Order: sequence, then structure tokens, then C-alpha cells
Amino acid sequence: MDIQLPVLAPSILASDYSKLGEQIKECEQGDAKWIHCDIMDGHFVPNISFGPDIVKAVGRVTDLFLDVHLMIENPERYIEHFVDAGADQITVHYEACTHLHRTLQLIKQHGALAGVAVNPATSLQNIEPILDLVDLVLVMSVNPGFGGQDFIPKTYERLEEMAALRSSENYNYLISVDGGVNLDNIDKVSRAGADVLVAGSAVFKAKNIPGRIKELQKKAKAGSKEWV
Ligand code: DX5
Ligand code: ZN
Repeated sequence: MDIQLPVLAPSILASDYSKLGEQIKECEQGDAKWIHCDIMDGHFVPNISFGPDIVKAVGRVTDLFLDVHLMIENPERYIEHFVDAGADQITVHYEACTHLHRTLQLIKQHGALAGVAVNPATSLQNIEPILDLVDLVLVMSVNPGFGGQDFIPKTYERLEEMAALRSSENYNYLISVDGGVNLDNIDKVSRAGADVLVAGSAVFKAKNIPGRIKELQKKAKAGSKEWV
């Protein structure tokens, strides 16, 4: 994947689903490179969002990179469906996988990039055994299930920890952060080590979506160590 980091990933969970196609076009106008799709099953998280058919519909209106975040139990049962629907990357939760290593291998066997997500209460040490396998580590900065929650400040240290581990062990994963990212904190979040900044409300609740994406991207870049 050839992209400039940090990259903003608008989460369509906060979009107006009655205008999904138009709002994705607005993301393109704002020069977004990724679209983040939040899949919730009502079991792993206390909310239900959408499934592979909507991901497929997103893929019909855009060629942007589809970053699919599975907040579902037993995600291994659905990997093939999401790859067929056009997912470029699939991220599963550490907490939702009995056989995490096997599930990550399955994602790769199907030709998608593989990510692992960790909830705020999960120690990052738990994912160390599989870090050589993953393309992305998603550090949750809210408890998953809903958009519009406040960023948990402890996340800064957790991002720094993942960045330090990557350089000391020569891993290749991107570091993603998801939840409560907005104009006020995006520079600091990026500075702490996030390469991928997922933002739902901060993008889709704005009056001018392309303008807001550009503003967020600019601040993320200004905060990033890569650009100073
Ligand atoms: C939370 C989801 C997030 C959420 C982010 O469970 O994984 O992607 O949509 O939304 P905001 O940016 O509104 O916190
Ligand atoms: Zn998400």
C-alpha cells in the first residue's frame, strides 16, 4: 500500500445512511484515502450496524481503500463474506477471537490485509505474540459500540507503546486509533504515534465534509513526527 501517513479514515458509522453514496463522494472531494466501515453484531458490542451488503454498496461508489473493523463475535465465520464484499483490510478484535492467530492467517489467505484491534481495558502485551503477522494494530480510544464518545486519554501512552515496540522489534504494522478523534486532539493523537486516524462524528457531523476532512488531515500531519 502506497500512502502518505498519517491517513484519515472517515467512519461511515456517523454518516447519514440515506445519503451514503453522496457522503462518500464528499470524502473523496476532501481527499480522503480510506473509508472505515464499523461492523457491529449486537453481541460483542451493544449495538448493531450493518453487514457485507453495505460494504459492497460502498465499493460500488468508490475505489477508496476499504478498512473494515469487525466488532463481532467469531469473526472467522464472516471473513470470506467481507473480502468478497470488497474489504481491502479486515481488523478483528483480540477479545473476540478464540484463535486469533488462525483468524489473522485466514484474512491473509483470502487476500486482504489483516489488523488486530484492542479494547481500552486490554493490556497490549496480549497481542505481542501475533505482531509479526499483522498489517495494522488498532488501539481503541473509546469502548467500542457507539460513535460520538469521548477520547480516553490513557490512549496516548498506548499509542506510544505500540510505536516504541515497532521500532525496537522492527515490526511493520501501521498504528490506528479509533474513537473520539476530533479537531482538538488529532495533532496530539498523531504525535503519539497514530498513522491512521479514524474519525466518525468529527467528519460526518460537519456542515462541510470535504473541508473538515482537509482540516483534520492538515492537523494530523502537523502533529506527526514524520513531518517535523
Ligand atoms: C466505535 C467505532 C468507531 C466510531 C468512531 O465503536 O469503532 O469507528 O465510529 O466514531 P467517533 O469518531 O464519532 O468517535
Ligand atoms: Zn471502528
